[in-house]
Amino acid sequence: MSIPRHIAIVMDGNGRWAQRRHLPRKLGHREGQKAVRATVEHCRQRGVAALTLFAFSSENWQRPGDEVHALMQLFVKALDSEVDELHRNGVRLTFIGDLDRFDAELSARMRAAMARTAGNDALRLNVAVNYGGRWDIAQAARGIAGAAMRGEIALDAIDELTLAPWLCLADQVPIDLFIRTGGELRVSNFLLWQLAYAELYFTDTLWPDFDAAALDAAIDAFAQRERRYGHTSAQLRATG
Ligand code: IPE
Ligand code: IPE
Ligand code: MG
Repeated sequence: MSIPRHIAIVMDGNGRWAQRRHLPRKLGHREGQKAVRATVEHCRQRGVAALTLFAFSSENWQRPGDEVHALMQLFVKALDSEVDELHRNGVRLTFIGDLDRFDAELSARMRAAMARTAGNDALRLNVAVNYGGRWDIAQAARGIAGAAMRGEIALDAIDELTLAPWLCLADQVPIDLFIRTGGELRVSNFLLWQLAYAELYFTDTLWPDFDAAALDAAIDAFAQRERRYGHTSAQLRATG
């Protein structure tokens, strides 16, 4: 059976999970942390090489101040409580997104967790915070434009292959499987460039209810897909 090497997840539905129980939305986010733990562990056990989780989008700052504040507190607490265990399990943690928008202490902690786990190789765990796919493409364009201005790359040489290394996750295997929980059928400015040939999987399950069985169902669905990359089925059969 074909196991996706890199899974990216839009962890959506925390607020509705809480609201259905007449609880404040922030309790949904707290409950969602358990699903993160279970998903990381299950990916490691199934031999997935990389997992990228959308935790906070560049648009999520527009939520009510108390919800944003609760999410920031949750990130600080999670950094305190989870990093030891991740490190013990050989997980390499990377944050992608514009970390400079967070307060200095939080971004310093994120950078410290990345440095501490940099030598691990059991699973790459990427957490997207203050991340937007358009921001990612813009920062890559800025990077390569700087290189062009310094004379390190010719303008004519800028193409898909030379721009790709400037984007987030360029050092990792391509995304095979995109999962969105919570029932919405959209990408919400997640990894626009990197999802080009990912298989898309949507489930109504709310993120706090997502567990090992739900992940297995997504992996099973992935295994049924025929990835043609523009070719025909007959061509794929001919080349095996
Ligand atoms: C996803 O859950 C978590 C974040 C965006 C931080 P939501 O908070 O969007 O949950 P719903 O979509 O309102 O249910
Ligand atoms: C996407 O979910 C962002 C994260 C899961 C972190 P949203 O709930 O913010 O997306 P929209 O607003 O429904 O598009
Ligand atoms: Mg949502």
